[in-house]
Amino acid sequence: MDDWDLGSNTDPELVPYGRGIPPTVKQLAHITPMNDFQRLEDMFKRHGDHLAAMLIEPIQGNCCSIMARVEYVQLARELCTKYGVMLIIDEVKSGFRVGKSGIQGLMGVVPDITTFAKAVANGYPISVVAGREDVMRTFRYGGASHGGTYTAHSVSLAAADETLRILDETPALDTLASYGERLKSGISEILDARKIVHSYTGHPSMFGLFFAEAPPDNYRAWKTSDYSFYDAMAYHLHDLGIIVEPDSREPWFMCEAHGLDETCLTDTLKAVETAVDLVLEHGVQAAE
Ligand SMILES: Cc1ncc(COP(=O)(O)O)c(C=O)c1O
Repeated sequence: MDDWDLGSNTDPELVPYGRGIPPTVKQLAHITPMNDFQRLEDMFKRHGDHLAAMLIEPIQGNCCSIMARVEYVQLARELCTKYGVMLIIDEVKSGFRVGKSGIQGLMGVVPDITTFAKAVANGYPISVVAGREDVMRTFRYGGASHGGTYTAHSVSLAAADETLRILDETPALDTLASYGERLKSGISEILDARKIVHSYTGHPSMFGLFFAEAPPDNYRAWKTSDYSFYDAMAYHLHDLGIIVEPDSREPWFMCEAHGLDETCLTDTLKAVETAVDLVLEHGVQAAE
Protein backbone atom coordinates (compact mmCIF):
# COMPACT_ATOMS: atom_id res chain seq x y z
CA MET A 1 0.00 0.00 0.00
CA ASP A 2 2.98 2.30 0.60
CA ASP A 3 3.40 3.60 -2.96
CA TRP A 4 -0.30 3.61 -3.73
CA ASP A 5 -1.91 6.82 -4.95
CA LEU A 6 -4.66 7.36 -2.39
CA GLY A 7 -6.57 9.80 -4.54
CA SER A 8 -6.75 7.51 -7.56
CA ASN A 9 -9.85 5.55 -6.50
CA THR A 10 -8.24 2.40 -7.94
CA ASP A 11 -7.14 -0.70 -6.11
CA PRO A 12 -3.55 -0.74 -4.89
CA GLU A 13 -1.27 -2.87 -7.03
CA LEU A 14 -0.54 -6.26 -5.50
CA VAL A 15 3.15 -6.44 -4.66
CA PRO A 16 4.97 -9.32 -2.96
CA TYR A 17 5.68 -8.78 0.73
CA GLY A 18 9.08 -10.38 0.24
CA ARG A 19 11.33 -11.80 -2.44
CA GLY A 20 10.85 -15.28 -3.83
CA ILE A 21 7.13 -15.09 -4.53
CA PRO A 22 6.48 -15.80 -8.24
CA PRO A 23 4.68 -12.95 -10.07
CA THR A 24 2.05 -15.45 -11.28
CA VAL A 25 0.68 -15.65 -7.74
CA LYS A 26 -0.66 -12.17 -8.32
CA GLN A 27 -3.14 -13.46 -10.89
CA LEU A 28 -4.61 -15.80 -8.29
CA ALA A 29 -5.40 -13.17 -5.67
CA HIS A 30 -8.16 -10.56 -5.66
CA ILE A 31 -8.55 -7.94 -3.01
CA THR A 32 -11.62 -6.09 -1.91
CA PRO A 33 -11.96 -3.27 0.65
CA MET A 34 -13.46 -4.42 3.92
CA ASN A 35 -17.05 -3.35 4.61
CA ASP A 36 -17.70 -2.51 0.95
CA PHE A 37 -20.71 -4.78 0.33
CA GLN A 38 -21.06 -3.94 -3.36
CA ARG A 39 -17.40 -4.56 -4.15
CA LEU A 40 -17.55 -7.92 -2.40
CA GLU A 41 -20.57 -8.99 -4.45
CA ASP A 42 -18.97 -7.72 -7.67
CA MET A 43 -15.78 -9.64 -6.92
CA PHE A 44 -17.73 -12.88 -6.43
CA LYS A 45 -19.72 -12.24 -9.64
CA ARG A 46 -16.51 -11.80 -11.62
CA HIS A 47 -14.27 -14.42 -10.02
CA GLY A 48 -16.45 -16.55 -7.71
CA ASP A 49 -16.42 -19.62 -9.98
CA HIS A 50 -12.61 -19.77 -9.90
CA LEU A 51 -11.95 -18.93 -6.26
CA ALA A 52 -10.67 -21.54 -3.81
CA ALA A 53 -11.06 -19.50 -0.65
CA MET A 54 -11.85 -16.13 0.81
CA LEU A 55 -9.70 -14.97 3.72
CA ILE A 56 -10.93 -12.37 6.18
CA GLU A 57 -9.70 -11.09 9.53
CA PRO A 58 -12.89 -9.56 11.03
CA ILE A 59 -10.92 -7.61 13.66
CA GLN A 60 -7.81 -6.32 11.96
CA GLY A 61 -5.12 -7.09 14.49
CA ASN A 62 -2.49 -5.29 12.41
CA CYS A 63 -4.62 -2.24 11.67
CA CYS A 64 -6.04 -0.66 14.81
CA SER A 65 -8.63 -3.40 15.32
CA ILE A 66 -10.76 -1.99 12.52
CA MET A 67 -13.80 -4.22 12.48
CA ALA A 68 -15.78 -5.84 9.73
CA ARG A 69 -19.50 -5.26 10.16
CA VAL A 70 -21.40 -8.38 11.17
CA GLU A 71 -23.55 -8.08 8.04
CA TYR A 72 -20.42 -7.90 5.89
CA VAL A 73 -19.04 -11.16 7.33
CA GLN A 74 -22.51 -12.72 6.98
CA LEU A 75 -22.58 -11.65 3.32
CA ALA A 76 -19.13 -13.21 2.84
CA ARG A 77 -20.49 -16.44 4.33
CA GLU A 78 -23.53 -16.39 2.01
CA LEU A 79 -21.43 -15.68 -1.09
CA CYS A 80 -18.88 -18.37 -0.20
CA THR A 81 -21.66 -20.93 0.24
CA LYS A 82 -23.35 -19.86 -3.00
CA TYR A 83 -20.16 -20.07 -5.09
CA GLY A 84 -18.62 -23.11 -3.35
CA VAL A 85 -15.72 -21.11 -1.91
CA MET A 86 -14.10 -21.87 1.46
CA LEU A 87 -14.46 -19.08 4.01
CA ILE A 88 -11.30 -18.75 6.11
CA ILE A 89 -11.54 -16.59 9.24
CA ASP A 90 -8.17 -15.48 10.59
CA GLU A 91 -8.33 -15.44 14.38
CA VAL A 92 -4.57 -15.40 14.94
CA LYS A 93 -4.91 -12.28 17.09
CA SER A 94 -8.58 -12.34 18.09
CA GLY A 95 -8.94 -16.04 18.92
CA PHE A 96 -9.15 -17.00 22.60
CA ARG A 97 -8.87 -13.31 23.41
CA VAL A 98 -12.14 -11.57 22.52
CA GLY A 99 -14.12 -14.59 23.72
CA LYS A 100 -13.88 -18.35 23.98
CA SER A 101 -15.50 -18.73 20.58
CA GLY A 102 -13.49 -15.93 18.98
CA ILE A 103 -14.85 -13.16 16.82
CA GLN A 104 -16.65 -15.77 14.70
CA GLY A 105 -18.62 -16.81 17.79
CA LEU A 106 -19.46 -13.21 18.69
CA MET A 107 -20.59 -12.59 15.10
CA GLY A 108 -22.36 -15.92 14.74
CA VAL A 109 -20.62 -16.80 11.46
CA VAL A 110 -19.21 -20.29 10.94
CA PRO A 111 -16.15 -20.47 8.65
CA ASP A 112 -14.99 -23.57 6.75
CA ILE A 113 -11.43 -23.09 7.97
CA THR A 114 -10.06 -20.95 10.79
CA THR A 115 -6.62 -20.12 12.16
CA PHE A 116 -5.40 -19.45 15.69
CA ALA A 117 -2.03 -18.75 17.33
CA LYS A 118 -0.70 -16.37 20.01
CA ALA A 119 -3.32 -16.39 22.82
CA VAL A 120 -4.26 -20.04 22.34
CA ALA A 121 -1.04 -21.05 24.15
CA ASN A 122 -0.57 -17.73 25.96
CA GLY A 123 2.50 -16.83 23.90
CA TYR A 124 4.07 -20.26 23.50
CA PRO A 125 4.96 -20.99 19.84
CA ILE A 126 1.94 -22.56 18.22
CA SER A 127 -0.27 -22.13 15.16
CA VAL A 128 -3.57 -23.92 14.79
CA VAL A 129 -5.59 -24.66 11.67
CA ALA A 130 -9.11 -25.86 12.39
CA GLY A 131 -12.18 -26.35 10.30
CA ARG A 132 -15.19 -28.35 9.26
CA GLU A 133 -14.68 -32.06 9.79
CA ASP A 134 -14.84 -32.96 6.10
CA VAL A 135 -12.30 -30.26 5.27
CA MET A 136 -9.92 -31.31 8.04
CA ARG A 137 -10.18 -34.97 7.00
CA THR A 138 -8.50 -34.08 3.69
CA PHE A 139 -5.24 -33.69 5.65
CA ARG A 140 -3.98 -37.23 5.05
CA TYR A 141 -1.93 -39.24 2.62
CA GLY A 142 -3.12 -38.48 -0.91
CA GLY A 143 -5.03 -35.40 0.25
CA ALA A 144 -3.83 -32.01 1.46
CA SER A 145 -0.36 -32.20 2.95
CA HIS A 146 0.79 -30.64 6.18
CA GLY A 147 3.78 -31.34 8.33
CA GLY A 148 6.84 -29.81 9.94
CA THR A 149 9.58 -30.38 12.46
CA TYR A 150 7.61 -28.83 15.30
CA THR A 151 4.11 -29.83 14.24
CA ALA A 152 2.17 -30.93 17.33
CA HIS A 153 5.17 -30.15 19.55
CA SER A 154 4.50 -31.44 23.04
CA VAL A 155 5.62 -28.28 24.90
CA SER A 156 3.37 -25.99 22.84
CA LEU A 157 0.47 -28.42 23.12
CA ALA A 158 0.92 -28.62 26.90
CA ALA A 159 0.87 -24.81 27.06
CA ALA A 160 -2.27 -24.67 24.92
CA ASP A 161 -3.91 -27.37 27.03
CA GLU A 162 -3.26 -25.43 30.24
CA THR A 163 -4.27 -22.08 28.68
CA LEU A 164 -7.55 -23.55 27.48
CA ARG A 165 -8.17 -25.05 30.93
CA ILE A 166 -7.66 -21.64 32.54
CA LEU A 167 -9.92 -19.93 30.00
CA ASP A 168 -12.53 -22.59 30.60
CA GLU A 169 -12.42 -22.60 34.40
CA THR A 170 -11.69 -18.96 35.27
CA PRO A 171 -13.12 -15.57 34.23
CA ALA A 172 -9.76 -14.53 32.66
CA LEU A 173 -11.35 -13.25 29.43
CA ASP A 174 -13.97 -11.24 31.36
CA THR A 175 -11.13 -9.70 33.40
CA LEU A 176 -9.41 -8.66 30.16
CA ALA A 177 -12.53 -7.19 28.62
CA SER A 178 -13.57 -5.30 31.74
CA TYR A 179 -10.06 -3.86 32.16
CA GLY A 180 -10.20 -2.74 28.52
CA GLU A 181 -13.59 -1.09 29.13
CA ARG A 182 -12.30 0.74 32.21
CA LEU A 183 -9.19 1.86 30.36
CA LYS A 184 -11.29 3.16 27.47
CA SER A 185 -13.63 5.10 29.76
CA GLY A 186 -10.68 6.53 31.68
CA ILE A 187 -9.03 7.71 28.45
CA SER A 188 -12.34 9.16 27.26
CA GLU A 189 -12.76 11.11 30.50
CA ILE A 190 -9.31 12.66 29.97
CA LEU A 191 -9.97 13.46 26.31
CA ASP A 192 -13.55 14.70 26.84
CA ALA A 193 -12.35 17.08 29.58
CA ARG A 194 -10.07 18.64 26.93
CA LYS A 195 -12.74 18.51 24.21
CA ILE A 196 -10.62 16.18 22.08
CA VAL A 197 -12.76 14.31 19.57
CA HIS A 198 -12.02 10.58 19.57
CA SER A 199 -13.49 7.14 18.96
CA TYR A 200 -12.62 3.48 19.42
CA THR A 201 -12.91 0.37 17.36
CA GLY A 202 -12.42 -3.35 17.91
CA HIS A 203 -13.14 -5.18 21.14
CA PRO A 204 -12.28 -3.99 24.69
CA SER A 205 -9.63 -6.75 24.88
CA MET A 206 -7.90 -5.37 21.76
CA PHE A 207 -9.00 -1.88 20.83
CA GLY A 208 -7.89 0.93 18.55
CA LEU A 209 -8.04 4.62 19.51
CA PHE A 210 -8.70 7.30 16.89
CA PHE A 211 -8.68 11.03 17.06
CA ALA A 212 -11.74 11.39 14.83
CA GLU A 213 -15.52 11.27 15.36
CA ALA A 214 -15.82 7.84 13.79
CA PRO A 215 -13.13 5.20 13.31
CA PRO A 216 -12.09 4.17 9.78
CA ASP A 217 -13.82 1.02 8.57
CA ASN A 218 -11.11 -0.32 6.30
CA TYR A 219 -7.37 0.04 5.72
CA ARG A 220 -7.81 2.59 2.94
CA ALA A 221 -9.77 4.85 5.28
CA TRP A 222 -7.05 4.47 7.92
CA LYS A 223 -4.41 5.44 5.37
CA THR A 224 -6.18 8.75 4.72
CA SER A 225 -6.86 9.44 8.40
CA ASP A 226 -4.77 11.74 10.60
CA TYR A 227 -2.90 9.69 13.19
CA SER A 228 -0.35 12.35 14.16
CA PHE A 229 -1.92 12.96 17.61
CA TYR A 230 -1.64 9.26 18.43
CA ASP A 231 1.99 9.11 17.26
CA ALA A 232 2.93 12.09 19.43
CA MET A 233 1.03 10.72 22.45
CA ALA A 234 2.68 7.28 22.12
CA TYR A 235 6.10 8.97 22.04
CA HIS A 236 5.42 10.74 25.36
CA LEU A 237 3.88 7.62 26.89
CA HIS A 238 7.14 5.75 26.30
CA ASP A 239 9.05 8.41 28.21
CA LEU A 240 6.49 8.08 31.00
CA GLY A 241 7.07 4.33 31.27
CA ILE A 242 3.96 3.12 29.43
CA ILE A 243 5.08 1.06 26.46
CA VAL A 244 2.30 1.28 23.90
CA GLU A 245 2.89 0.39 20.29
CA PRO A 246 4.36 3.49 18.58
CA ASP A 247 2.74 2.45 15.30
CA SER A 248 -0.91 3.50 15.48
CA ARG A 249 -1.85 0.45 13.41
CA GLU A 250 -1.27 -1.82 16.41
CA PRO A 251 -4.24 -2.10 18.76
CA TRP A 252 -3.84 -1.97 22.53
CA PHE A 253 -3.89 -5.54 23.80
CA MET A 254 -5.02 -6.33 27.35
CA CYS A 255 -3.73 -9.20 29.45
CA GLU A 256 -5.15 -10.69 32.62
CA ALA A 257 -2.33 -9.28 34.79
CA HIS A 258 -3.42 -5.73 33.83
CA GLY A 259 -6.87 -6.37 35.25
CA LEU A 260 -5.66 -7.95 38.50
CA ASP A 261 -3.57 -4.98 39.61
CA GLU A 262 -5.52 -1.77 40.33
CA THR A 263 -2.41 0.44 40.19
CA CYS A 264 -1.91 -0.64 36.60
CA LEU A 265 -5.05 1.27 35.54
CA THR A 266 -4.38 4.35 37.64
CA ASP A 267 -0.70 4.55 36.57
CA THR A 268 -1.61 4.15 32.90
CA LEU A 269 -4.32 6.81 33.05
CA LYS A 270 -2.06 9.22 34.91
CA ALA A 271 0.54 8.80 32.13
CA VAL A 272 -2.11 9.19 29.40
CA GLU A 273 -3.26 12.45 30.96
CA THR A 274 0.31 13.80 31.10
CA ALA A 275 1.05 12.62 27.54
CA VAL A 276 -2.11 14.25 26.16
CA ASP A 277 -1.24 17.53 27.87
CA LEU A 278 2.31 17.37 26.50
CA VAL A 279 0.94 16.93 22.97
CA LEU A 280 -1.43 19.87 23.49
CA GLU A 281 1.43 21.95 24.79
CA HIS A 282 4.12 21.02 22.24
CA GLY A 283 2.00 19.99 19.25
CA VAL A 284 1.99 16.81 17.24
CA GLN A 285 5.54 17.45 15.98
CA ALA A 286 6.80 16.13 19.32
CA ALA A 287 7.07 12.62 17.88
CA GLU A 288 9.61 13.62 15.24
C1 LIG B 1 -3.65 -11.61 11.89
C2 LIG B 1 -2.47 -12.51 11.61
N1 LIG B 1 -2.65 -13.57 10.83
C3 LIG B 1 -1.62 -14.43 10.59
C4 LIG B 1 -0.37 -14.22 11.14
C5 LIG B 1 0.73 -15.20 10.85
O1 LIG B 1 0.67 -16.24 11.76
P1 LIG B 1 1.77 -17.41 11.75
O2 LIG B 1 3.05 -16.80 12.22
O3 LIG B 1 1.24 -18.43 12.71
O4 LIG B 1 1.86 -17.91 10.36
C6 LIG B 1 -0.16 -13.12 11.97
C7 LIG B 1 1.17 -12.90 12.59
O5 LIG B 1 1.39 -12.03 13.39
C8 LIG B 1 -1.23 -12.23 12.21
O6 LIG B 1 -1.08 -11.17 13.01
